[in-house]
Amino acid sequence: MSKKPRLALLGSGKGSNARAILEAIARGEIGAEPGLIVTDQPGAGILQLGNDFGVATWEVVEPRYRTRLSPEVEEELARRLRAERIDLVILAGYLRVVKAPLLEAFPQRILNIHPSLLPKFPGLAAWEQALVAGETESGCTVHWVDAGVDTGPILGQARVPVLPGDTAGTLHARIQEAEHRLYPEVVARVCVELAEVDSERGRA
Ligand code: GRF
Repeated sequence: MSKKPRLALLGSGKGSNARAILEAIARGEIGAEPGLIVTDQPGAGILQLGNDFGVATWEVVEPRYRTRLSPEVEEELARRLRAERIDLVILAGYLRVVKAPLLEAFPQRILNIHPSLLPKFPGLAAWEQALVAGETESGCTVHWVDAGVDTGPILGQARVPVLPGDTAGTLHARIQEAEHRLYPEVVARVCVELAEVDSERGRA
């Protein structure tokens, strides 16, 4: 039997997507083992999941930048994830751009969820961008992370309507409901593929 991929969940906020994934693992819908929860924001809500699901947590301390990690801090993060034998890194509301140290340590092994139908509206507050543009439809996208901002290969999308009278808050809440269904589905699929790759390597 192949081993279950070990996951790291990285987030800067309340962690509702990370929670949806951990719940799906607990229900047996994702064949994975949660290894580590990481945040770059002291006291972020996502840390609570460590207690709720019995998963180790780690706070990254970045003294210099707000939108990325310093290379030495990101290298330390990459070393920690390797030491924890992490197979797949899941960004779940992680608000920094991932740079070379992590990308090179986990090539094609970092997933992100973005609250728009990419390639439309990359970057911050994508639901607001959709409202301002007068879109009638929005949604969310799960993609592999590459060196760009929200540009990597797309693995899945879910659509939601933009309704008359929507505010940024109501639209983001509708998108988040879709995220909580889509992200666990895609993670489950990716974990099956990773387990197959690992068992083929084991046989080779
Ligand atoms: C989500 O809307 C996600 O698409 C974006 O950041 C938000 C994170 O929310 N990348 P949460 O922390 O998972 O609740």
